[in-house]
Amino acid sequence: MNITKVIIPAAGLGTRFLPYTKTIPKEMLPLGNKPAIQHIIEEGIQSHLKDFFIIISKEKKELRHYFEPNTALEATLESQGKLGLLDSIKTINQNSSLYYIEQPKPLGLGHAIMMAHEQIGSEYFGIMLPDDIMLSQDPGIGQLMNIARKEKASVIAVQEVPHHAVSSYGIVAIKEQINADIFEVKSMVEKPHPDDAPSTLAVIGRYVLSPTIFTSLQTLAQNHTRGELQLTDAIAHMMRNHNEKVYAYKIKGTRHDIGNPKGWIAAINDIATRESVI
Ligand code: G1P
Repeated sequence: MNITKVIIPAAGLGTRFLPYTKTIPKEMLPLGNKPAIQHIIEEGIQSHLKDFFIIISKEKKELRHYFEPNTALEATLESQGKLGLLDSIKTINQNSSLYYIEQPKPLGLGHAIMMAHEQIGSEYFGIMLPDDIMLSQDPGIGQLMNIARKEKASVIAVQEVPHHAVSSYGIVAIKEQINADIFEVKSMVEKPHPDDAPSTLAVIGRYVLSPTIFTSLQTLAQNHTRGELQLTDAIAHMMRNHNEKVYAYKIKGTRHDIGNPKGWIAAINDIATRESVI
C-alpha cells in the first residue's frame, strides 16, 4: 500500500482563540521558531508523505504566503554564508509539494475532507488536524501508516480521555482488542454525552483512511441539510455500509490541543523542554 498524500484541514474559524484569530490564522501560532502548521508538515515529511493538500478559507492568505519562497532573503543569506539559516527557510519546499484547496464555507470536517476527493483519487491517504500537535519519538502519522500497510485497512489515532471529556471528541466503540494498543472498531460517535459514550477512547487528529470514505461522505452529504458534515459519521457509515475495516491505535507520544490558549501554552512549555523538536 502506497501512502503519499495527506489532507490538512485548515479552514476553521479559530473561535476558541479569538480575538487573536480575527486576522491571523491559528495555524500560524508560533511553537518555538516555527508556526504550528510547519510542525504538522514536518511530521508528515518525517513519515515520508509527499503531497500535502491544505484546505483553507479565502481569509487564510498568510498561511499560503508563509510557504512561498522568499528569493531576496535566500540570496542575502547565501551571500552572507548563513547556510544553516538558508536551509531552514527552504526545507519544506524541498521536501514536499503543498497544494491549497479553498473551502467556500466552514461546513464541517467531513465537508473539508470531501474538498480534496479529486486530488486523492483512489489511494489510501492521511489526515492531520493542525489543532493536534503530536510530540513523539516516531512521527505520529507514520505510526498509523505502518499499521495501515500491515492490516491493509484504515487506522485512526486514539487516546484515553477522562469520562467527562468524551463530549469534546469522536469516540470509538470497540469490536475486538487486537493487542495492547490496537483495536478493531465497531462504530464511532461524534461528541457523545458522557452517559451515552461507548468508551473513553477518543479520536485525536491523525487518520489513515481508505478512499471509500469519499463514497460515504457523498452519500451523507446528499441527505445532509443542516449543521456540520462530520468525518466521524462518514467513517461509521463506511464500516456499516461498505464492509470496511477500521482499526483504532493508541498513538505513542504527547498530544497537545493548541486550538485554545491553555493548550497552546502547554505545547510551548513542552517543546521548550525538548530541544530536539525545535
Ligand atoms: C475533530 C473531530 C473529532 C476529534 C477531534 C480531535 O473535532 O471531529 O472527532 O476527536 O477533532 O481533535 P474538533 O476538535 O475539530 O471539534
